[in-house]
Amino acid sequence: MNRDTDQARALKELFEDDFLIGAAVNPRTIGTQENLLTRHFNCITAENEMKFINVHPEEDRYTFGDADRLADFARKHGMKMRGHTLVWHNQTSDWLFRSKSGELVDKATLFSRLKAHIDTVVKRYKNDIYAWDVVNEAIADEGESRLRSSLWTEIAGTEFIAEAFRYAHEADPNALLFYNDYNESHPHKRDKIVALLRSLLEQGVPIHGVGLQAHWNLYDPGLDDIRAAIEKYASLGLRLQLTELDLSLFRFDDRRTDLTSPPAELLELQAERYEAIFRLLQEYRASIDSVTFWGAADDYTWLDDFPVRGRKNWPFLFDERHQQKPAFHRIAGAFAAAD
Ligand code: GLA
Repeated sequence: MNRDTDQARALKELFEDDFLIGAAVNPRTIGTQENLLTRHFNCITAENEMKFINVHPEEDRYTFGDADRLADFARKHGMKMRGHTLVWHNQTSDWLFRSKSGELVDKATLFSRLKAHIDTVVKRYKNDIYAWDVVNEAIADEGESRLRSSLWTEIAGTEFIAEAFRYAHEADPNALLFYNDYNESHPHKRDKIVALLRSLLEQGVPIHGVGLQAHWNLYDPGLDDIRAAIEKYASLGLRLQLTELDLSLFRFDDRRTDLTSPPAELLELQAERYEAIFRLLQEYRASIDSVTFWGAADDYTWLDDFPVRGRKNWPFLFDERHQQKPAFHRIAGAFAAAD
């Protein structure tokens, strides 16, 4: 179709009555994707730059340069910003868990270090960040045990989760505090996430929302599972945000590495699925406040090479040259007409 794409409404305008539209960014993409970001998105998340290891490599040393540049970008362009992330089992400095001689510290030491970290980071961005992913990916994917085992659980059992939320709330009582996870729509893991959230709420922990990472593909998860997950999370009275949306063209472990451009039939399937997903999200707009993509355009995605080395991916609404893809046209047509 030869539509004059420059006339299309921006993504953030198509959904301005529904939710914020966000993108994960880094110091490179705020340059290379600046026009696209400022035209279509009204919220950003730092891809890596606010993770523990990036901002706090040693106990007495914080490194905020890159994170500050991203916060400056948001401020300059009037965009909102999500904070990601305070407690995670990955990309976290090893010193946090260990004494100088290398042994694991006790719980009290871990908690006082965590409190200092959260206090410093959350207060620094108080005026920039309206919502934090306080705890990321604490639930085990498989099996019956609720939490993933990590140095966090080894030292501090289950308590670190509630503590982290309390520290974050003390540091910035106005910030919305989220628990964030992937495979959030798979029934087994969803039910464990729900049980965790319910127990935090019962203990009076200051938690306001659940982040659905939404690293999805053309086939998985099913729309019925996404709907059921949204309903279960929303029934807890929490706010919902999609925090890391991307729609891979491949099943997770599809070993297809021969493609150098996306086949038209897959782009068509992607367009259909994006439209169906946004229709579903709009149905639940009373509970969903924000939809953030884990990137903005196909020139840069963590899915290139992951999890299959040598496999290029094209998960977004904009192509490698930042042009609108069939999925964008589909959404623009569906939602502009609905206005
Ligand atoms: C998880 C994390 C993100 C990011 C992605 C992969 O979803 O929450 O911060 O690391 O993995 O890039």
